[in-house]
Amino acid sequence: MEKKFLNMTMMDWADQWPDAQSISNSNPEPFTADELSVLTGLDWQQMTLDQWDYQSAVGNLTLRESMIHHLYPNNHPDDLICCAGAQEALFVVFNALLNGGDHVITFTPAFEPLAMIPTLLNARLTTLPLSSTNKWEVDLNKLETALKDNAKLLVLNFPHNPTGAHITHDVMNQIISMCKKHQVQILSDEVFRGLEYDVKNRLPALADVSDQAISIGVSSKAYGLPAIRLGWILCRDAKLRKKMITIKNHLSICISGLDASFMLKIIPFSQQIWTRNTQIIISNIEHLQQALAHHPRFKCQIGKASSTCFIHIDDAKSFCQRFAENYGLILLPNHCFATQTEGFRLSLGYRNMKFHSNKWLNMDNICNDLNTTPSNLS
Ligand SMILES: Cc1ncc(COP(=O)(O)O)c(C=O)c1O
Repeated sequence: MEKKFLNMTMMDWADQWPDAQSISNSNPEPFTADELSVLTGLDWQQMTLDQWDYQSAVGNLTLRESMIHHLYPNNHPDDLICCAGAQEALFVVFNALLNGGDHVITFTPAFEPLAMIPTLLNARLTTLPLSSTNKWEVDLNKLETALKDNAKLLVLNFPHNPTGAHITHDVMNQIISMCKKHQVQILSDEVFRGLEYDVKNRLPALADVSDQAISIGVSSKAYGLPAIRLGWILCRDAKLRKKMITIKNHLSICISGLDASFMLKIIPFSQQIWTRNTQIIISNIEHLQQALAHHPRFKCQIGKASSTCFIHIDDAKSFCQRFAENYGLILLPNHCFATQTEGFRLSLGYRNMKFHSNKWLNMDNICNDLNTTPSNLS
């Protein structure tokens, strides 16, 4: 079979402007050591760094015990496999589950690997569009029709990148029972779990409530710590975990001991960290909504969770290109998210958002008024 590693559209897009700064990132503002010290009461500048050896393939037991205790109370430390980021976790899970021709269902817009890795593995992919006019809600009838078509795997990503969509407890339960009925496995990418704008909307990890689900988490998103490359897979099926470890042994083999040491100290503060990140996001949303009221060409249905939103504008690709060329700031247009619905992803997680949003909002006004492409706007 032909080997075909497809280029990641998102990376290709950003690589056109290597010196530009992204204002489209999906992680919240990364912490500084000082900020972490204030929040946790621990001295991060003086942290003992004593984990220089290779680690166990699944991640050390103390870390996995702490994650189970704080995050996944219905599971066992053996159910966790630590990985080098969620990106590796996804690659491992898809490769462990899928064979050519398997039917996989996912939603668009999509974090590209969720659609791309199944395609790489020659799976048959059904994409179900989420629409802003329907408040990004899942159409359960369309989902069930797709599940009935001999589906093997349903890929969920709620809270959702890029729209911020989230499902309710009731929808989660309906999806779980549909998948049970049609014997479909669930891969639930939950890297934004913890960033619900209203904490009442927080769901349990799917693998914490369903044997059919595998959950993915990571340090980079809800925790705002992308420098720690630690992702994890929660899966109750021991046979499947064994297969995953075999695959992972071809990749990172084990996680970084230093990352594990940091994360061990961070996990008990999960709630406080998520709250800090969510507060920044909520304040950005307030600003954005006020600003958009004066710029009707941009339309945005704000979601219920996560650190990005999707803003509709016609001809998004050329808008984002002009913006990068004129300001050295990167916005990711819709084709980076496997959708033709025109728009771009905007980060809601950074403190500098107010400053930068004035630029893209005003650039559009100027282009519009002059009916021309701006050059060297400052
Ligand atoms: C939904 C989703 N899953 C997984 C990942 C991968 O996370 P990481 O790059 O930290 O491994 C991302 C990154 O943007 C993401 O948005």
